[in-house]
Amino acid sequence: MCGIVGYIGWREAAPLLLNGLKRLEYRGYDSAGIALLNGSLLVMKQKGSVSGLEVAAEGLSLDMQSATLGIGHTRWATHGEPSDNNAHPHKNALGDIAVIHNGIIENYSALKQELTAQGLIDKIWKSDQSLDLESATRSALRHVDGAYGICVISSREPDKIVVARKGSPLVIGIGTGEFFIASDAAPLIEHTNKVVYLSDGELAVITREGYTVKTIENIEQEKIITELDFSLEKIEKGGFEHFMLKEIFEQPAVMHDVMRGRVRLEEGRICLGGIEDYLDRLKHAKRIVICACGTSWHAALIGEYLIEEFARIPVEVDYASEFRYRNPIVGVDDVVIVISQSGETADTLAALRTAKEKGALVMGICNVVGSTIARETLCGMYTHAGPEVGVASTKAFTAQVIMLYMLALALSKGRTLSHDEIALNLKELSRIPEKATRILELESQIKDIAERFQGARNALYLGRGYNFPVALEGALKLKEISYIHAEGYPAAEMKHGPIALIDKDMPVIFIATRDSTYAKILSNIEEVRSRKGRVIAIANEGDQEVSRLAEHVIYIPQSSGPITPLLTVIPLQLLAYHIATFRGCNVDRPRNLAKSVTVE
Ligand code: F6R
Repeated sequence: MCGIVGYIGWREAAPLLLNGLKRLEYRGYDSAGIALLNGSLLVMKQKGSVSGLEVAAEGLSLDMQSATLGIGHTRWATHGEPSDNNAHPHKNALGDIAVIHNGIIENYSALKQELTAQGLIDKIWKSDQSLDLESATRSALRHVDGAYGICVISSREPDKIVVARKGSPLVIGIGTGEFFIASDAAPLIEHTNKVVYLSDGELAVITREGYTVKTIENIEQEKIITELDFSLEKIEKGGFEHFMLKEIFEQPAVMHDVMRGRVRLEEGRICLGGIEDYLDRLKHAKRIVICACGTSWHAALIGEYLIEEFARIPVEVDYASEFRYRNPIVGVDDVVIVISQSGETADTLAALRTAKEKGALVMGICNVVGSTIARETLCGMYTHAGPEVGVASTKAFTAQVIMLYMLALALSKGRTLSHDEIALNLKELSRIPEKATRILELESQIKDIAERFQGARNALYLGRGYNFPVALEGALKLKEISYIHAEGYPAAEMKHGPIALIDKDMPVIFIATRDSTYAKILSNIEEVRSRKGRVIAIANEGDQEVSRLAEHVIYIPQSSGPITPLLTVIPLQLLAYHIATFRGCNVDRPRNLAKSVTVE
């Protein structure tokens, strides 16, 4: 979703801003712009890509080329079509203030009538000559309802950038005699690893000499400087054609990283530092509710199965967006777990706050260190999957599932599972990275299958038990990057409706691993075959039965039921990736999608 960058220092701002915007491309956008301040203020913006803007910037005057202060934006349209005019930054009527805004101003309609052609900050500033850019911005924000991350510059005060946030993330990067601003850490990492995360309701004034952070109510804030722990190489493609493919292939290493220090194989125990102090309360929860969106919601469903099976604690899974608006029955005896790769998803954040208000213990599973959700939860665990740049989530999903697997085992300790049973499960978990590596070796076979099905218009993904959420995830991956309509279903539900869709053109992807529902799945495959559906099956190595029934079989290593999602999802990620690339789709930047959905 929309991205913000800013620079104030001693270097030429334009190339830094454009490069920063490129690093934010993965968030999704439809237009881009920059504002440069060097005596006068220049705004350059247009619909389309950052590279298009880069070409336009070649025509910058010498004055603007040497500007050392500026702000930049990638816009993902929510209100108003993508167009040159709607792109940010926006200028006031006089052309001496430039503003960038992320988020949704909910009372925009009322404000617009009052302010057309002038600008809120400008109006307030003009009405009181004693104000400066900072206080005019602060006053303006008091009139605004909704979410924002904003950057303001003005030729009336040419040596500062004012930024503020509520809902939309903002980070300040600290260099030597220079400062950077960004929506997330990706554009900062090549310049500095020292950052300050702004919290909701904070406003910062940044000059070349330093920065101050206050609340919108003007109360000074002490901010902690955080050291980023990822390198530039992690946000580059490293020889892969797309970030998505790189991230799929990173999964074995990520699996190791998630478990590192947490799975103590020799002792047969799990150590979850981030929740240790709350483990007892978690174990005695009346109920656990897990809230998330999209792929994280699919991981949550697997978490439900795992926690109920191992720890025997009742679990409910809710879409974060629904949880918030249906007045949920949640109280002090409940635990609410929010799962989010980005840690910034607006609906998940809202669900977290609702749960907190109702007195539940709120725990987070996030990937992005220092993200808003991670900071607002009482306790939690980072997935340590590294930056996920591909819009379609892959490695974050497997990391979340491992996290939930470890959590389920930790909750069962001393209650439902013996030490030996836990040790056995951990042993199996520790073998998963090696099995995942073997599945990745099947890429060329999966690519061949993808080539045959690239022309499909619909696809059905079917699985049972632990593999039902994987079917949902496989279908989501395919539709979001290839634009083929796909649906995931519990295999047995097929007979209650979707079977009507099956004909000779319909690919049906079955997850048919050997577990308690294996025989039933075989019957489901027969049902599809007898209607001439085209069956692709994910099955366990050595399974001859499935090869008799399916047109294509992708064989994966054997594992126990609860752990299979970590393996079965990988061929589905690769299948979606290759189908999408055969169709010529831009898999890293699928149309209309944003990596981090910071509006509700
Ligand atoms: C799908 C995908 C999205 C996200 C969803 C939640 O590939 O990436 O469905 O999973 O927007 O995002 P996070 O996990 O950042 O809260």
